[in-house]
Amino acid sequence: MARDGWVLGELEAPAPELTPVAVEAIAADHFGIVGRATPLVSERDQNFRIVTADHRAFVLKVSNPKDGDDALQLQAGAMFHSARVDPGLPLMRPLPGGPGQVEVPDEVGGRLLVRMFTFMPGRHLEIQELTPEALWGLGVCSARMARSLRGFFHPGAARPSVWNLRHLLELKPLLEAVQDPRHRALVGMALDDFGNHAQAAFPALRAQVIHNDLSLSNLVFDQEQVVSGILDFGDVAHSALVAELAICAESALARPDGLAALGRLVGGFSSVTPLEDQEVELLPDLLLGRWAALAIISSWRLARYPASAAYVSGWQRGLWGMLEAAAAAGLPKWRPLIQSVARGERVRPIGVTGPTESLGQRRRRLLGAALSPLFYDPPLHLVRGEGVWLYDADGRRYLDAYNNVPIVGHSHPRVAAAVARQFATLASNTRYLHEAPLELAERLVATMPPGLDTVLFVNSGSEANDLAWRLALSFTGGTGGVATRSAYHGISAATADLSPEEWRARARPDWVETLPAPDGYRGRHRREEPEWVSRYVDHVDQAIAALASRGHRPAALFIDSGLSSEGILIPPPEYLVEVARRWRAAGGLLVGDEVQLGFGRSGAQMWGFQRHQVVPDIVTVGKPMGNGYPIAAVVTRAEIVERFSRDTGWFSTFGGNQVACAAGLAVLDVLDDQGLLPHARAMGDALLAQLRQLQQRHPVIGEVRSLGLLVGVELVRERSTREPLPVAGIANSMRDLGVLVGATGPAGNVIKIRPPLVVTAAQVGMVTEALDRALLGDARP
Ligand SMILES: Cc1ncc(COP(=O)(O)O)c(C=O)c1O
Repeated sequence: MARDGWVLGELEAPAPELTPVAVEAIAADHFGIVGRATPLVSERDQNFRIVTADHRAFVLKVSNPKDGDDALQLQAGAMFHSARVDPGLPLMRPLPGGPGQVEVPDEVGGRLLVRMFTFMPGRHLEIQELTPEALWGLGVCSARMARSLRGFFHPGAARPSVWNLRHLLELKPLLEAVQDPRHRALVGMALDDFGNHAQAAFPALRAQVIHNDLSLSNLVFDQEQVVSGILDFGDVAHSALVAELAICAESALARPDGLAALGRLVGGFSSVTPLEDQEVELLPDLLLGRWAALAIISSWRLARYPASAAYVSGWQRGLWGMLEAAAAAGLPKWRPLIQSVARGERVRPIGVTGPTESLGQRRRRLLGAALSPLFYDPPLHLVRGEGVWLYDADGRRYLDAYNNVPIVGHSHPRVAAAVARQFATLASNTRYLHEAPLELAERLVATMPPGLDTVLFVNSGSEANDLAWRLALSFTGGTGGVATRSAYHGISAATADLSPEEWRARARPDWVETLPAPDGYRGRHRREEPEWVSRYVDHVDQAIAALASRGHRPAALFIDSGLSSEGILIPPPEYLVEVARRWRAAGGLLVGDEVQLGFGRSGAQMWGFQRHQVVPDIVTVGKPMGNGYPIAAVVTRAEIVERFSRDTGWFSTFGGNQVACAAGLAVLDVLDDQGLLPHARAMGDALLAQLRQLQQRHPVIGEVRSLGLLVGVELVRERSTREPLPVAGIANSMRDLGVLVGATGPAGNVIKIRPPLVVTAAQVGMVTEALDRALLGDARP
């Protein structure tokens, strides 16, 4: 059979033509129902409403002779299956106790199959009439319908059908049936889009037998706009699950509040059957595909059977307007818009209420002048992340080689599911018993050296460091703090005082001393000098003395194990060992700030301090701990917390809540199960080796330093002078090449590379290649 043979075969099969009088006789003779027959509309069958003298109503269906037993068994089987699985669904059912189906002769010596069904009371509604609640209910109904068929199969479901989106592209030869050239172009656009996005992805979608025509023409509603009848199983087919939703939502965008209406409907569906990412991604294409099918089949029927105009032209209601709107927005913008709606995000229709102010201006106006400037010029408007990838509002994807928070990859499904599950179960605080914070505490403690046995949960790195400071004040009785000269430890009053990086015009607080960071490349003591490490260590003594001269005894010395805002420095272990020894000897505690580097980024070991061969008295962790869900903690010795508890009570409303802990536990699981620590080391080694090779070719690379997957590439104008070359231009070029990196260091001349630990060897290569090209001045995407 020619490829489109079955298409025309299906479309051309004429509907039977029994008269109402003949039908009344069949109803009486075969089903024992005596009543008046009135024709109802149908595409390929003949339907009649039969009303008896005592006002009972039925539907008599005369099937298209082309539909053999197989098709009818499929329909009946699906109907019975659904009714059994979800008895609450208001399905049209075969007449109870009736003969099922009967055969009657037609006028030309053939046979017709006739069935009798219960009549479903209710009213057909137009999409414009539905309340927001009814739209939600419609989505729920569609999901329940599909769910009830999930376990059903019949070989007939595999037959090709013009209404099965799986076979949509087979309608292409009939595109000419769309008369108006503008309309034809729009339908062509929809078909092309389907071909480009949905067709190849179809085999990977969740698939099952679906009703496949749960549109408003096959639904009736009660007074409250609740679905009271689901009609017509004639198009049941094996297809993508999400096609059930797309078909049900086919007209939502024809409403003036189309996006909100679609959002409601999808929300209802997802409340029963959450959509998978790929389904969300393809929903716009399936909508376009459904519109294309409606346009082509209705146009073909109108041309071939003008008598059906009254019925068939209804399929085109709102259709051209919806296609026009998608075309006017431009599909590259329209698709992500629909995807956002499907994800339940609040969106503005394209071009309708377009902000006169840019997002950047609104950010500045609403979030204020103090907020750190945006990355990149022009800035990035991100809408989605997955694994190492970030996607902007135009649908462009970027390899994220910068963000350390999504340590196991953006939107990791396991972490997201754990958070969603816990949030839907219980979100409370630590003044009630619950296993989650205890399990997380146990697992954190198990990663720490002996002695670090007590965990205090908070919500951010700043809070963790602030609490560390308070613990140190109470334990030591001292009041002096020390940090490195460009360190960053947080936003609270105390931690901002301990963050010289942010001081700007502010004078150094009286109780804080700073240490020059142990920068052997451009610092005041360089690696070429044999005693450079001990010279840096000596600054601790000077800091202790300076604090003492102002009346402060040592309380806490904070050190970021990656010295990241110092430019990512990797001093030899003896540096921190000796600093800690001298500081402790003077009575102070050592706080290991693992907020940036913790959770395996340093490669093979969980914590950066392990590489320095020092055990801090207090460890602070945060950022990647929940892979983006806010959670942070202080891990310290029980004696330190006991001393603190004598001074004060302590409680954090959100700290250690069950949802945050679910995120934290899931992150630990993923780190283990995906073997990400050794992987981070391997990828870090590969990246370092590649960057060192680049360094040989690019004189502007002064030095490359790395600790696992925390990598710094120091840029200089000239190697001999080591004059810093700011990163901004290179980072912008790399962004144009689709790779995101950041800048750090006191002079902003160190490229900061910190990809999620799931980065692959090929992606590591992409980072290096982008840097190579950016340095060569080739920033073409
Ligand atoms: C080393 C270090 N400590 C503490 C913080 C503060 O963490 P948060 O922003 O979660 O308060 C940061 C944040 O950048 C950090 O890098």
